[in-house]
Amino acid sequence: MKIAVVGAGYVGLTTASVLASWGHVVKLVEKDAQRRTQLEQGEVPFFEPGLAELVRRQLKTPAASGEFSLQIFSSLEPVLPAVELTFLCVGTPSRPDGRANLDQVFAVAAQVGKNRRSEHLLVIKSTVPPGTARQVADLYPQRVASNPEFLREGSALADTLHPERIVLGVDRVEDAEILRRLYAPTGSPILVTDPTSAELIKYASNAFLATKISFINSIANLCEKLGADVTRVAQGMGLDSRIGPAFLGAGIGYGGSCFPKDTLALEKLARQVGYNFRLLQATRLTNLEQRLLVIRKLEKELGPLAGKKIALWGLAFKANTDDLRQAPALTITRRLRRKGAQVVAYDPVVAKKPLSGKGPGPALVVDPYAATAGAHALVIVTDWAEFSRLDLERVYWSMAANPVLIDGRNLLDPARARAIGFRYHGIGR
Ligand code: UGA
Repeated sequence: MKIAVVGAGYVGLTTASVLASWGHVVKLVEKDAQRRTQLEQGEVPFFEPGLAELVRRQLKTPAASGEFSLQIFSSLEPVLPAVELTFLCVGTPSRPDGRANLDQVFAVAAQVGKNRRSEHLLVIKSTVPPGTARQVADLYPQRVASNPEFLREGSALADTLHPERIVLGVDRVEDAEILRRLYAPTGSPILVTDPTSAELIKYASNAFLATKISFINSIANLCEKLGADVTRVAQGMGLDSRIGPAFLGAGIGYGGSCFPKDTLALEKLARQVGYNFRLLQATRLTNLEQRLLVIRKLEKELGPLAGKKIALWGLAFKANTDDLRQAPALTITRRLRRKGAQVVAYDPVVAKKPLSGKGPGPALVVDPYAATAGAHALVIVTDWAEFSRLDLERVYWSMAANPVLIDGRNLLDPARARAIGFRYHGIGR
């Protein structure tokens, strides 16, 4: 098939290159000139394992028609007459009031509507409030389907090649059939439903996972008061197949471009239609408080933090990404600096990124041991696997006397860390 994909972010770029690898001709539309130049040179503007290799390969691989299977364009207009499907993968950032900003979605839909052809199908992959696909079809008459994306940063390729499920929200059976054929190579279960339910499946899934995390973090806080170990509690809960072990990792809370944005958008949407989704508010507030736990633990051990040197291991919101959006590390750094502490950070992939315009960030170093040298405390912020393999004794001896170790992701063995001499604190154990 000939397919357009609009937006070269995590979702768009992954979708485009995977579709290209299945033999389709994919015309990827990206309005940012710098990003286009990078892509044309085979560089991916963010860290995503395996993606750059796939993009480079598909840019040079001809499809059956002789055209290259992946092509990059600056606008959708010249592409539309040639394609049967357009995947809409643009951003839907938060508005100041928390609702999703759909400007980019509507701009693309208007363009497709203007150049409407009866055989063309617009497929919305961006995370949009339930009702958006139908609103788009009303405003700019055309065939519209909802096909929410469930890929995770850090495992975007595997999640796209072998998703656990594919959700198709359609108003016409023929549209479901087109997409069913397209996704046949995945062999994944496909759920066909109406567009609004499909859109809600996406929000509900993210909100449920976020709630699961806030729930286990609340249990972790209780564990600290009761002398229990949350990792064992989570293990015991996870053995119940009705609960499952995933997303029961207690820590300093969730971040990223999806959970914080989508839970807030769903909470606001619910309010807009007259429903008070109290549970989601609790999920969100619990998550914010969880980040600040680190500061409380540090103050308990070190007293006032002014003049103290605090080392952070990890800045990204989770391992295997360089994404700093809504990363707990940013909140923690800001608070520490406000209290007069000196913050030095090491992250395996995050180079130098501005802290969302909210003041200076931590001093970044390229070596984990350089970060801890002379520090009064070390905080493990991101669950990078390499942190559990570093030489803890060397770290201990590099730090100020009687150092504190806050293991914000429960990565280390508490007994070992304490045996070395650290004042060790995990989360909920
Ligand atoms: C999430 C969803 O998992 C994807 O299915 C979805 O497609 C995506 O959002 C999206 O809407 O685009 P992602 O944000 O990449 O994916 O990251 P996750 O792996 O879900 O982790 C989210 C946050 O939860 C991270 O900060 C992570 O550290 C935290 N987390 C995760 C925990 O604190 N504990 C856990 O047990 C699991």
